[in-house]
Amino acid sequence: MRLSDCHNFHDFRKVAQRRLPGPIFNYIDGAADDETTLRQNTASFERCDLVPNVLRGVEAIDMSVTVMGQKLAMPVYCSPTALQRLFHHTGERAVGAAAAKYGTMFGVSSLGTVSLEELRKAHDTPQVYQFYFHRDRGLNRVMMQRAKEAGVNVMMLTVDSITGGNRERDLRTGFSIPFRLTLGGMYQFAIRPMWGINYVTHESFKLPQLDEHVDMSGGAMSIGRYFTEMLEPSMNWDDVADMVRQWNGQFCLKGIMSVADAKRAVEIGCTGIVLSNHGGRQLDGSRAAFDQLAEIVDAVGDRIDVIMDGGIQRGTHVLKALSLGAKAVGVGRFYLYPLAAAGQPGVERALGLMRTEIERGMKLMGCRSIDQLSRENLRFR
Ligand code: LAC
Repeated sequence: MRLSDCHNFHDFRKVAQRRLPGPIFNYIDGAADDETTLRQNTASFERCDLVPNVLRGVEAIDMSVTVMGQKLAMPVYCSPTALQRLFHHTGERAVGAAAAKYGTMFGVSSLGTVSLEELRKAHDTPQVYQFYFHRDRGLNRVMMQRAKEAGVNVMMLTVDSITGGNRERDLRTGFSIPFRLTLGGMYQFAIRPMWGINYVTHESFKLPQLDEHVDMSGGAMSIGRYFTEMLEPSMNWDDVADMVRQWNGQFCLKGIMSVADAKRAVEIGCTGIVLSNHGGRQLDGSRAAFDQLAEIVDAVGDRIDVIMDGGIQRGTHVLKALSLGAKAVGVGRFYLYPLAAAGQPGVERALGLMRTEIERGMKLMGCRSIDQLSRENLRFR
C-alpha cells in the first residue's frame, strides 16, 4: 500500500503491521490484561452523537487553541511515547518535524531515543517532556534541571505507571530492552529482514534521557522492570507538589482520572491535567478518558487546563472531546503507526488527514472556531 492510499488510522495500522517485526508491532498495538480499556477508549466516542448546526457561515475555520500557555495551530498534539527509533530509524526526529510542520506540540519521553536537547534545538514548536518519578530524588532533580536548561516548555509527569501494566503480548514475544526474545519472537524478526537491515545500518539505539543516569543496557531491563524497579511507588502528592514548585512553569499530570485527584492537582499548582488511561496499557478496566471528561471539566475546568488522550482516531473524536470542554487532545498510536509505516512523511500525512477531518467536521457542525463548540452539539445515547 502506498502512502497516498493510507486514508485513516486503520490503513496506517495495517502497513505498520506489515513492516514491523511482530514483537515491536505488538508492543505498540497491545495493552494490558484483556485489552478492555483499549477497546473502550475508541468505543466511548461512538456512544456520543454530534448535533450539527447549519447555515452559520463557515467559510474560514480557525482550529487553533491555547493550552498550558502554548498556542497550537491545531487542537491535537503528539503525546510522548517511548522507543520511537525502534519503530522507524528516524524516530522522534520525524515526529518532531511533522508536529512543527503542523504547528503543534509534541512530547519527548524519558524513554525517548533522541535527546530532548537535540529536539528542542531543531524546532520552535512547543515541546513537552514526559517524566517519571524515580526512587532516586537526586536523579529527579538533575533530570528536571536538564529539561529546564534545554528549554522544555511543558513538564508532564506520568502518574499512572508506578508499576508496569500486564502486557501479555509482550510476555509472549519477550519484548524487552535489549531484546530477550522468545523463539517465536526471534522468528518474527527473521521474517522482517528489512527492519533488521535498517536497524543495523543506522545510528545505534540509545535512550539519551536516561543513559547517563540509569543502566538500561546490562541484562534485560524490560519496560515493566524499569517501572517496577526504578520508579517510586510511594510517590505522593507532597512529593509532586515539591516538583511543581521546583519546575516553576507549566506542569501537568498525565493519568488523572478522578475528580478528587483533579482537585488536588489544582491545589498543588499544576497548570494542566491529562485524563488518560495510558492507551489502555496500565490498569485494564479503567474508564475511558472521554467518558470521564464532563465530570472533570465541571469540577476543575475553570481553574486548570483539562486535556485528554486515548482512542482518538478521527477528527470527529477530537471535536467531541473539545465540545465537552477539553482544551486539546493527545494522540499516540495515531502517529506511531504512520511513523512505522513511512517515517516523517507518514506522520505528516496522518496529521494532515486529522487537520482536514477537523476542518471538515467543524464546517459540517457550523463552527468557525473551537470556542463555538459546546455541549449543545452533543447527545449521549
Ligand atoms: C508504555 C510506556 C513506556 O506504555 O509509556 O509502554
